[in-house]
Amino acid sequence: MQTDSPLPPRVELPAVQQSLQWRARPYELLRSCRERLGDAFTLDLGSHGTYVMFSHPDALRDIFTADPSVLHAGEGNVVLKPLLGAHSLLLLEEKPHQRERRMLGPAFHSRRIEQYGALVREATLAAIQDWRPGQSVIIQDVMQRVSLRVILTAVFGLEGGERAEELSARIQAFLNDSKFNLGNIGQLRDDLQSEAWAAFKRSLERIDALLLEEVRHRRAVRDVERGDILGMLLSATYEDGAPLEDAVLRDELMTLVVTGYETTATAIAWALHWLHAFPGTLARLREELRGLGAEPAPSALAGSAAPWLKAVCQETLRLHPIIPVVARRTQVPFRVQGYEVPSGVTVAACIYLAHHRPEAFTEPEDFRPERFLERAYSPFEYLPFGGGVRRCIGMALALYEMKVVLGLVLSRFELKPMDAQVRPQRRAVTLAPSGGLRMTVERLCS
Ligand code: HEM
Repeated sequence: MQTDSPLPPRVELPAVQQSLQWRARPYELLRSCRERLGDAFTLDLGSHGTYVMFSHPDALRDIFTADPSVLHAGEGNVVLKPLLGAHSLLLLEEKPHQRERRMLGPAFHSRRIEQYGALVREATLAAIQDWRPGQSVIIQDVMQRVSLRVILTAVFGLEGGERAEELSARIQAFLNDSKFNLGNIGQLRDDLQSEAWAAFKRSLERIDALLLEEVRHRRAVRDVERGDILGMLLSATYEDGAPLEDAVLRDELMTLVVTGYETTATAIAWALHWLHAFPGTLARLREELRGLGAEPAPSALAGSAAPWLKAVCQETLRLHPIIPVVARRTQVPFRVQGYEVPSGVTVAACIYLAHHRPEAFTEPEDFRPERFLERAYSPFEYLPFGGGVRRCIGMALALYEMKVVLGLVLSRFELKPMDAQVRPQRRAVTLAPSGGLRMTVERLCS
């Protein structure tokens, strides 16, 4: 370990090449940097700026336990501001962030998540009810339909009425439009005169208008008891007794829909990929599922009766952590792993490299769910949901949904991969299986 040195070693490639590799093959870039430069290194990612990467558990402890006034997370997400708005949890810092988290927290407590069981089951069965033997399916698309329905219903309620229906349809179309891909928002914005930017603004304006109408309607009819997240936020107040303003509600609702949509779907797609690449793990899962009966209940799939299913989900998020890096901006000089990082620099916790450390994970490239049954990992060794005060607020919902959806699909169908080679490919916010993971429905399980 070095001491009092300047930034960790820089990658020798020109910045433009680093940026290109970061977009096209981030895992390869990260792996080759670690092989050549060690645990800590400095990347120059062009318009994203300089990233100082860390993956040693001691460094991650320093980052995740730092005072929120020393490391800011929202500054790294500023590219999402046109979509999510300035009040989004992802963009706030320090006290306002803490206040907003307290407000949203109850919607994501484990006890509340269990109430979403029927919803997740219904959304899954609706998405797979037409599957027939011999049919080919694109798993990522199917799972995105499921997770979007789950998050929209959890946020806006089951019997949403006409306005909520239109809102759902418009949000769905918007998020599925590759022109508005979250990765492209920054580029769209660079050309404020472009037709694409104007189209983005137009689509969003209609969604915003519907969102605000729904908020005002629910407020006016005092419909806050429906059990959805909007109802919960409408009845919530700040410490001084004031209700949440409409603009805040708009930004938080949008944030939850956007963050809850592609992430979970991608995680489920990767789980199906790995299970089929390692048939022994799949056989063991099928055996566990058979033990839960022909129609396993969501509570059985998500509970202690299915330890292998849980380990499969954990191992999937280890191998492909969905979000490979989380970033913080230093507000003052920050000491980490013997380096004195100056103020105004992006310090990144590299989840992907932390999850591939052979010191913590033997045979790190293999899919071995049993490792999670054999030992416990510290939050600085295993961290698919990030850490500290910014740890993913949707963690319990995401894990619950992964277990229930996988359990339901695999207790009804056998699937066969169609592509010999599947590699990580960038979608809007995640690195998902290339081609969306094409599979053939083989036969119904007996
Ligand atoms: C497998 C699925 C998911 C993964 C892997 C994931 C991962 C992450 C990660 C790595 C972060 C950044 C944490 C940090 O900076 O330390 C994050 C933040 C966040 N996630 Fe998730 N997420 C998932 C699903 C969800 C869901 C279902 C929701 C909501 C419905 C959600 C809502 C959020 C929000 C609002 C934040 C910002 C938290 C804050 O800044 O305080 N995520 N997520």
